[in-house]
Amino acid sequence: PPLSEILNLHDFEAIAREVMPEKAWAYYSSAAEDEITNRENHSAYHRIWWRPRILRDVTNVDFATKILGYDTKLPLYISATALGKLGHPDGELNLTRAAAKHGIIQMIPTLASCSFDEIVDNAKPGQVQFLQLYVNKEREITKKFVQHAEKRGIKALFITVDAPQLGRREKDMRQKFDAEDPAEVTENKQQDKVDRSQGAARAISSFIDPGLDWKDIPWFQSITKMPLILKGVQCWEDALQAYDAGLAGVVLSNHGGRQLDFSRSGVEVLTEVTRELGKQRGLKFPNEKFQLFVDGGVRRANDVLKAVALGATAVGVGRPFLYAFSSYGFEGVDHALDILEDEFEMNMRLLGARNLKEIIPAMVDASSLHSH
Ligand code: FNR
Repeated sequence: PPLSEILNLHDFEAIAREVMPEKAWAYYSSAAEDEITNRENHSAYHRIWWRPRILRDVTNVDFATKILGYDTKLPLYISATALGKLGHPDGELNLTRAAAKHGIIQMIPTLASCSFDEIVDNAKPGQVQFLQLYVNKEREITKKFVQHAEKRGIKALFITVDAPQLGRREKDMRQKFDAEDPAEVTENKQQDKVDRSQGAARAISSFIDPGLDWKDIPWFQSITKMPLILKGVQCWEDALQAYDAGLAGVVLSNHGGRQLDFSRSGVEVLTEVTRELGKQRGLKFPNEKFQLFVDGGVRRANDVLKAVALGATAVGVGRPFLYAFSSYGFEGVDHALDILEDEFEMNMRLLGARNLKEIIPAMVDASSLHSH
């Protein structure tokens, strides 16, 4: 169908399922085991309700903000997703271009299909990009990669901490990985031995170090000045430890339901993190010094605004942009972002909020959030 008939981000998923090769669909859409967490990522938002305000002049609404000090036109960023060329020959560059056009930030994955330098080279002058890091057992490789990224102007490092081993994504495991197919190979050649028998995810991830530990944090701080954020935190205890270790923030995430099944949704974890870090360290959220991000299941501006109301600085979005470029290339991502912008404007007006600072906890009723 023409893009004009695509009305929301869910529509892209339905089309992608029709047009994508089976293998690519399996890799993008799969989640761990019984996919309960993947479903919960959506359901959690369905348990949060609004308490909008009326009679406030909402002629002009503004939803721009800053992430880690960098301007963004929307309180969301493009989260790191591996193997972009499985869905489209331009792979991650579709995202780089759309991020530039819409003034939002792209998080580049370690396991991009395009090379890291190609993605950076395709950014516009001044365009802000972050990097997602999988930590190699060979720390020298990681050190070189991180320092190269910093030299190339990457502004923040998101270290993925929820994947010491890849989750069982059975839809993907039923597909055979094909190392001869360029779309299935990442340019960032970190892998040595590749087991091709169990899907794309397992094949490309064998270099990741399950030995990664809190003890390694000072080492990261010694090799880069970029702000460090842990991606994949799931309880307040770890968020507190990250704060005490001097990190810049955490992403409350379950990796799009692709790792530990029966992990809670990021937005549910958010409420305990703001409560406990408030109680124990006197922090108020959103907080500039220690920023909270959430991802998983976000499909509407309405979802984003709920996370913002509960204290998140911004949220990450993964699959919707993959489905958008797999079906329509750059134009698909461009259209997805147009849709989100329209949704933000309308929702802010209906909420009676002129800017994101006016989206406060009193605007949501999250009392059902913890009843599953
Ligand atoms: C991911 N995600 C991910 N995360 C990460 O830290 N490194 C990675 O290489 C990838 N790769 C990846 C591939 C695919 C196909 C998906 C769907 C996801 C997780 C991603 O960054 C994010 O946490 C989730 O995608 C958010 O959930 P939604 O928006 O997809 O529901």
